[in-house]
Amino acid sequence: MRIYLAPMEGVIDHHLRQILTRIGGIDFCTTEFVRVTEHTLPRKVFYRYCPELQSSTIGASCPVRIQLLGSNPKTLASNAAKAARLGAPGVDLNFGCPAKTVNKHRGGACLLDDTFLIRDIVQAVREALPDSTPLSVKIRLGYAARDSGLRNAEAIEAAGANELAVHARSKADAYKPPAYWCEIAEIQQTLGIPVIANGDIWTVDDFLRCREESGCEHVMLGRGLLARPDLALRIRGEADALLDWQDVSTLLLDFFLLTRDQYPKKYLGNRLKQWLHYLKRTYVEAEVLFENIKRLRDEAGLMQALEVSSKAA
Ligand SMILES: Cc1cc2nc3c(=O)[nH]c(=O)nc-3n(C[C@H](O)[C@H](O)[C@H](O)COP(=O)(O)O)c2cc1C
Repeated sequence: MRIYLAPMEGVIDHHLRQILTRIGGIDFCTTEFVRVTEHTLPRKVFYRYCPELQSSTIGASCPVRIQLLGSNPKTLASNAAKAARLGAPGVDLNFGCPAKTVNKHRGGACLLDDTFLIRDIVQAVREALPDSTPLSVKIRLGYAARDSGLRNAEAIEAAGANELAVHARSKADAYKPPAYWCEIAEIQQTLGIPVIANGDIWTVDDFLRCREESGCEHVMLGRGLLARPDLALRIRGEADALLDWQDVSTLLLDFFLLTRDQYPKKYLGNRLKQWLHYLKRTYVEAEVLFENIKRLRDEAGLMQALEVSSKAA
């Protein structure tokens, strides 16, 4: 079984990859999306999204694939080749993003209605990459309805992708529960490449049901891992390493220290509050801490609240 950390634009950057993968249980990560339009991007862009390319001591402690988003096969291919030259251990193509601004520029989920273009993109990117660099693709089950999953999946495999992750919803479903894991089953049974099930895995129980319904051995975790940072370990049955609130508040403090210099003063603490929003689902203490810091912007106040929360555990 492989467990993937889901890409989450604006949330899971190299800082959070570092914190989350250090806990263990995750095999692969993906960067936030690198938007590709007309040009091959300069190397500094790749390094910004994926500092792990430059240093093994920064960011994730497992391989990080570069996620590309766009609709032009030629430029996606040239950027994929560049990512590989810079040492990326894999490239990932995003056909799942539902954001209006992204779809307006013909990127992400809107391509789910254009199987031929998806095929052309995957084929061009695969041909541009060395054989040793895996190409993964992420889709939803369709755009307006969950009706193009299998068609797109078959085209993606035929075009040479090495893995396919499926978020078990249509674009129109947005993030509304439930995730339709059973609708991945046909894709999993048809394809020869690994199919990774994704969507609404918040607990070990969800994982077991997802595996049962989708038939997939591999899973991708996004919000569930933010809400329960030891979820991958729990799924693997590594109960010795489970985290209580004190452990989680230490992670929050580490995260704050890692990120505090990256943001203008008026945004100080925002990333912390964003993560707490997910943690509130699992830990009552996260709710209390969130209430205590929601209006704080100063470093000393935030640090003190984090320390108090950790001691109260
Ligand atoms: C804030 C946010 C940002 C996301 N960014 C991306 C992205 O850049 N690329 C992508 O393929 N999916 C993106 N997704 C979708 C997730 O990767 C994942 O498919 C979705 O959240 C369902 O999985 P989960 O229930 O485990 O979170 C994003 C989701 C969220 C909530």
